[in-house]
This record gives sequence, C-alpha cells and structure tokens, in this order.
Amino acid sequence: MRVIVDCDPGHDDALALLLALGDPRLELLGVTTVAGNQTVDKTTRNALRILASAGATGVPVAAGCDRPLAGPLSVAEDIHGFSGLDGPDLDIPTAEPANVHAVELIRRLVMAGREPVTLIATGPLTNVALLLRTHPEVVPGLDRIVFMGGSTDRGNTTPYGEFNIVTDPEAADIVLRAGLPTTMIGLNVTHQALATPEVIAGFRALGTRLGTVCAELMTFFAGTYRQVFGFPHPPVHDPVAVAAVIDPAIVETVHAPVAVELIGAHTRGATVVDLHRRTARPPNADVAVGLDVDAFWRLLTTAVARIG
Ligand code: BDR
Ligand code: CA
Repeated sequence: MRVIVDCDPGHDDALALLLALGDPRLELLGVTTVAGNQTVDKTTRNALRILASAGATGVPVAAGCDRPLAGPLSVAEDIHGFSGLDGPDLDIPTAEPANVHAVELIRRLVMAGREPVTLIATGPLTNVALLLRTHPEVVPGLDRIVFMGGSTDRGNTTPYGEFNIVTDPEAADIVLRAGLPTTMIGLNVTHQALATPEVIAGFRALGTRLGTVCAELMTFFAGTYRQVFGFPHPPVHDPVAVAAVIDPAIVETVHAPVAVELIGAHTRGATVVDLHRRTARPPNADVAVGLDVDAFWRLLTTAVARIG
C-alpha cells in the first residue's frame, strides 16, 4: 500500500512515522508537515530527525501550512515540549526539506503513480483541506483519507474538542464534507493505546538505538500526560491511524455521519458523531469504535525492530 503521512511531530506522530517506515506492507512515498503540536519549522525538523534516526533519508519531506485556515495557531508545548519532540537525543537531520509546499508534494506524488495512495493525517487537517480545495484532480488518485482526530465522546483540548480538530475546525469540516472515503481514528479508541511501563520496557528490550529512542520519547510523553491530564500512562494516538491502514482488523469501525462543530459557544472543534443514526445526515466516515490493543502494540514494536 502506497501511503503519504501528513503530520506534526510530536511524540506520537514520530511513532506513526516509524510504523509507516517499518511495516513491510506500506510504501512511505513522502512525509508532509503542518503546524500543530509545534510551529511548522519545528515539526518539519522533527520529521527529518526521525527519518534520519531511522536511516530513511530518501523519503521526501515537505513543509506545509504554518497556521490554521482561520484563526491563530496554538501549539501543544505543554505535551510535546519546546522542540515538539523533547526527550531523546535525536540525530541532527542531514537531509533538507523539499523545495516545494507540502500540498504540491502530495499532488505530485499522487499524480505520478498509477496505484492509488492512502493519505494518513496525524495533525491538524490544514494541508489536506487545502489540497482538496486547490487540487481536486488528486481525488481519483486517493484511495482513502485516514486521520487521527476527533472523538465519539469527550475531547482533550476543550471538554468536547480534540486537539487536531480544535486547531483547525474549518479544515476538518472541508475534509469530512469532501465525499472521499474517510476513516476517523478518534480519542475514544486512541485512549486505549497506552504506553504502559511494559510497552516502554518492550521498546528498550529491542536493544537497538531506535528502540531506546522510542522508550525515551514515551517516557517524556508519560511525564507530560501525567502532569497535564493526571493520566497514569500516555495514549499514543497517531500510530493507531497507520495501524488501521496496515491491518483494518485492528480497528473496528462504524459507518456514521460526522459533523464538525464550527460555531458552538463551548464546543467549537468538536466532532459530532451520529453513531445511532438519530439525524437525517448521510454517513460520511468510517468511525473507529474499537481497538485490538495487543495487536496494535505488536505491530508497532515489530516495525521498530525491523528498522533496526
Ligand atoms: C493529537 O494531538 C496531538 O498532540 C497528537 O500528536 C495527536 O495527533 C491527539 O489529540
Ligand atoms: Ca499529531
């Protein structure tokens, strides 16, 4: 499967990239970055640092939007630190970002091949929305969009809003109304993918440099999640979106209507999921409602081990 990952690394985005690189069923065509967890300069540098640590310097990286479509950017420094990827001592990137905007790199990669591409988005959907609006010719070349964002229940950035959607609600609205096959991996499932001490020990036990990097990333992430949310273990959201592409059996989904709240007094950025079909809205997404947690961690650990 040919995939592009649009991301804002970000500790869990970093693991999403490693899963996309390390699983033999995926071909990672390119990585595009967006402002979210940190500024786009930092998320781009972080994507390059992760790829360098994995020895994957041949994968093109392009920087995208530096702010949401409307409204200011508010980064998640309390969770991901000043660099956006605080914790491990990562390689200095040797490669430079491509000399094109993220949207243009995605367009070129999709238009260049005959096989469809799956677009996996693990940050705010700004680049993806801009792509769909400015280059609708890519749509036939896209197999599906799988994004981490939203929730069928409560949020993490506001009581009902999840970070990626709250950061750019207009972008999420555009993507969810584009008429493309779309899968939503929300907090209701990613809050089951917890990096417990056993998971972190499993990364260390790989005995590789990358295994140690993953353990250190998760140790930092555990600290901020404990501090900010009081969670005993941090939820590792973004790789669940990649896992759902690799093995759809890992995630149980329901085809349902999803709307983005754009004007709520307290709920802007919330995903309103009509799981029980109580409205007349047509279904527009496959919404994740269940996760095979053990299979997920097996997939991720095996991929990291495979990179070496
Ligand atoms: C999402 O927000 C970001 O902080 C994470 O990287 C993930 O994509 C979880 O709400
Ligand atoms: Ca992310």
